[in-house]
Amino acid sequence: MKFFVESFGCQMNSADTEEMGRHLAARGFAATADRDAADWVLVNTCTVRQHAEQKALSYLGRLRDWKDAKPGRRLVVAGCAAERLQDSLRRRFPHVDLVVGAISIGRFPELADGLLPAGEFDARGEAADAWSPENDYTAYTRGFPVGHVTIMRGCNYSCAYCIVPRVRGREIYRPAESVLAEVGQKAAAGCSEILLLGQTVNSYRPADGPIQDFADLLRAVDKVPGVRRLRFMSPHPFYVNERFAAAVAESPNVCPHMHLPVQSGSTPVLRRMRRNYSRADFLARAALLRRFVPGIALTTDIIVGFPGETDDDFKDTLSLIDEADLDGAYSFKYSPRPGTDAAEGPDDVPREKKEERLAVLLESLERRAQEKTARLIGTAQEVLVESAGVENGVWTADGRTRRFWKVRLSSKTPLKIGDTVNVKIQEAPARVLKGEAHAA
Ligand code: SAH
Ligand code: SF4
Ligand code: F3S
Repeated sequence: MKFFVESFGCQMNSADTEEMGRHLAARGFAATADRDAADWVLVNTCTVRQHAEQKALSYLGRLRDWKDAKPGRRLVVAGCAAERLQDSLRRRFPHVDLVVGAISIGRFPELADGLLPAGEFDARGEAADAWSPENDYTAYTRGFPVGHVTIMRGCNYSCAYCIVPRVRGREIYRPAESVLAEVGQKAAAGCSEILLLGQTVNSYRPADGPIQDFADLLRAVDKVPGVRRLRFMSPHPFYVNERFAAAVAESPNVCPHMHLPVQSGSTPVLRRMRRNYSRADFLARAALLRRFVPGIALTTDIIVGFPGETDDDFKDTLSLIDEADLDGAYSFKYSPRPGTDAAEGPDDVPREKKEERLAVLLESLERRAQEKTARLIGTAQEVLVESAGVENGVWTADGRTRRFWKVRLSSKTPLKIGDTVNVKIQEAPARVLKGEAHAA
């Protein structure tokens, strides 16, 4: 039996996809990249914005022909949109065999077994506990050479715009020994970069044991043999304090880059979003990080057009990016999500206004990126190769620097995914740096 996955949404969803794939692998399934060769298709869905949900649902619609083409095929829908829509998905898409909402991921093995012929499959390779240190966390992996490792599920915040707490539940912390087991296995299998995942990853606080909080965990993961780069996503500004910053600064493998979502630069908007910090707080935390880790790159998430956002609020967002000297941002137009607090009120920033603000924001970010990348011309950067090939007889590869800049490089010697190379940056035409690899 073969399975094919399509995973929408964030890295946490991608890690969940791995978890479900691992359960299938333990039952003797093999992963395939060819959907037509698959017996099972697993679609992991996202619902963070309407557009994200729509993308996943239209993909599902297109799977009708795949399902009809061969008897016995199974279609499983999982993730955040599945949690939100539950069984209405099956009414809308009768070709779906199983709906597993994000909160119910723990029941995936049992639910999947219900679709398998009795007695033919058993999960001998698998412990009953999904987070047992005994599990084989490399049975099915995505994203190599970056190992995605979930350290907590859910979110205890209730940001006014956000559907995530509804579809992922409240915080549950993974035991540290389980995290360390997965990191160790993945690093040994060649994931030289580890990405620790949680919705507010730095609020991690397991109940007992010597590892008490995220700072402790970071220091422990940093020491796992084979880990050469360590990142985490997404820290919440509220939990950025000296203890946290010191752990980042004193862990040599932690990359000098942090994705720290701010959402808005206007204190009144932040208050209405219920983010639990003000503009001044965010600036102070960014400064704290820079004090502990000089030169740290900071990227962020921004929402434009949150209800009631005025031109002045938006200007505050633009000026915050400059004042905090941010290196980049993912920016989104506000999208009302049913059941969230913000969706109870009007979506009162007109679409054209949202689009205009988004365009201004993107232009400003592009300009900043140009300035920042231009300064890197002539420098040497350590790049972790994420994809590699040959173009016109020359070895080429794409990868990232420790500060998270994308690099496209050429090399006189063969390169493979997972290699770390030194690259002399020669050009910075857009966001992507270009350069040539040279011997270390
Ligand atoms: N837990 C993370 C965010 C997870 S959702 C944090 O708190 O920072 C990823 C991003 O999607 C958010 O940072 C936000 O910028 C965006 N987002 C979430 N809900 C949204 C909505 N309703 N409309 C537009 N963007 C949204
Ligand atoms: Fe959503 Fe806020 Fe939780 Fe992030 S912290 S997942 S934005 S509710
Ligand atoms: Fe989407 Fe769920 Fe992630 S809604 S962004 S896949 S937590």
